[in-house]
Amino acid sequence: MALLEDTFGIDVGIQDRFGGPDPNSMPFAYFDENGVCAANFTAFSMPMTIDGRLVRAAGFQSGAVRPHWRGRGLYRDLMTRAFGWCDEQGFELGILLTDKPAMYAPYGFTVLPQHRFVGAPPADMKSDGRSRALSVERAGDVALIRQILRERVPVSSVFAVASQAEMFLLNSVFDQEVRLSYLEQHEAIVAWKTEGTSFQLLDIAGKTIPPLPAILSALDQHPNSVEVCFPPDKLGWQGAPEPLMSDISLMVRGNAADRLSAPVMLSSMAEF
Ligand SMILES: CC(C)(COP(=O)(O)OP(=O)(O)OC[C@H]1O[C@@H](n2cnc3c(N)ncnc32)[C@H](O)[C@@H]1OP(=O)(O)O)[C@@H](O)C(=O)NCCC(=O)NCCS
Repeated sequence: MALLEDTFGIDVGIQDRFGGPDPNSMPFAYFDENGVCAANFTAFSMPMTIDGRLVRAAGFQSGAVRPHWRGRGLYRDLMTRAFGWCDEQGFELGILLTDKPAMYAPYGFTVLPQHRFVGAPPADMKSDGRSRALSVERAGDVALIRQILRERVPVSSVFAVASQAEMFLLNSVFDQEVRLSYLEQHEAIVAWKTEGTSFQLLDIAGKTIPPLPAILSALDQHPNSVEVCFPPDKLGWQGAPEPLMSDISLMVRGNAADRLSAPVMLSSMAEF
């Protein structure tokens, strides 16, 4: 959409290669007299697993008003309509990422601090199958990624998306440093990066979640330290939570977030 490209410089048209935009999106928008989109705010269904329970969550994204139309209350109106619609639909949780948290506080959103999980690699690295690099430039690999995303289990029982495919694919295009590897034995796709001698585990989309030793061994990685970008409760490994420093705040609204006691992070592959 031109408004998003003009405002954020991102080309969401890339999604057409991956099966199109999320069919569960509910955009709220204003158009000018020439039919040009002047303001937009989109809600979409993003079921999550939180504290072991499946939660009907709604994400909010693509909030933008063209400069000429700003400061006249258009966004206030779109927020009111979008949040009201989600309440009517019975969503238990609203979730968004923003660099303007003050704008959403009046609507009941609070900042949920995020943590990465950092620690030494597991000592036991016994071999457990091999991996194959995937590319979003290859149609066959994209088909495999989409199929696994449809069948994935949440990467964490504490805090993770339960089903949502579009952002995983888009984020792997937006961040060229992300590597995707398929662990055939586990029918799982691992999204990862390296930074110096540190191994960063961003996400796992799979029918099962392989333990960390199996992942490192299949990827033939021997790092000095490991950083996991989601709660590592399914990895058979523990890291120390370290506050994530970022200009972008994760905000939530609704009772479902009140039960959260453990530190969380929304995988960067689920960012929207
Ligand atoms: C942020 C943006 C969407 C606001 O649009 P707008 O139409 O000017 O907003 P409105 O006039 O409807 O103002 C809505 C409310 O948000 C507040 N607000 C507006 N810009 C704000 C900002 N940068 N920070 C905090 N609050 C802000 C207004 O004061 C107003 O509060 P009120 O209801 O208490 O009076 C617009 O400036 C924009 O597109 N910016 C660039 C993209 C962007 O940052 N999008 C948000 C992504 S999270």
